[in-house]
Amino acid sequence: MVRHLRAEAAAGRMLPFVIEYQGRLVGQLTVAGITWGSMCSGHVGYWVDEAVAGRGVMPTAVGLVVDHCFRTVGLHRIEVCIRPENGPSRRVVEKLGFRSEGLRPRYLHIDGAWRDHLVFALTAEEVPEGLLARWRRAREQQARRQDPSKPGNASK
Ligand SMILES: CC(C)(COP(=O)(O)OP(=O)(O)OC[C@H]1O[C@@H](n2cnc3c(N)ncnc32)[C@H](O)[C@@H]1OP(=O)(O)O)[C@@H](O)C(=O)NCCC(=O)NCCS
Repeated sequence: MVRHLRAEAAAGRMLPFVIEYQGRLVGQLTVAGITWGSMCSGHVGYWVDEAVAGRGVMPTAVGLVVDHCFRTVGLHRIEVCIRPENGPSRRVVEKLGFRSEGLRPRYLHIDGAWRDHLVFALTAEEVPEGLLARWRRAREQQARRQDPSKPGNASK
C-alpha cells in the first residue's frame, strides 16, 4: 500500500497524508485522482481512529489540505464523495461549507456492490480567505453564540 501511495504521489496523481493528534498517528487523508490540464481537480478520502472521533480532527485536516491544494499545489477544485448513510462524514463537509452537487448513482464498487455517492465540492474562488480560517471563524462564532459572556460578544 505504501509503495502504491508513493508511486502515485511521484507521478503527481496523489497527495497522501497521515494525521497526527497529540503525537499519535490517528488517521489518513488522501487527495487522489489529481487531474491537471483544464480541470486541475482532485478528490479527497479520509478516515480517523474512532478513539478521537468527534473532536473536529477531520474538518481541521481537510481545511489544512484544501488550503495547501489551492494555494501551493495549484488545484482549482476539490471534491468529496460520500455514501448517503455516512452521517459523520456528511457532517464534516457540511461544517466546512462544501457545496452539494447531488447524487452519483452506483458510483463506486465498495463491499461487493456498486454504491450511490453524494458529491460535495469546493473551488478556490469559494474560499478566498482559506478554508481552515473560515472553519475556525465559524467555530468561534458558534462558541460565542452558546456562551454570550465570551469576549467580543458583549454587544451582540
Ligand atoms: C467521518 C470521519 C472522518 C469524521 O471525522 P471526525 O474527526 O470525527 O469529524 P468531526 O469531529 O467533525 O465529527 C463529525 C461527526 O461525527 C459524529 N461523531 C461525533 N462523535 C463521534 C464519535 N465518538 N464516534 C463517531 N462519530 C462521532 C458527529 O455526528 C459529528 O458531527 P457534529 O460535529 O455535528 O456532532 C470519521 O467518523 C471516520 O473516520 N469514519 C470512518 C471512515 C469514513 O467514513 N470515512 C469517510 C468516507 S467518505
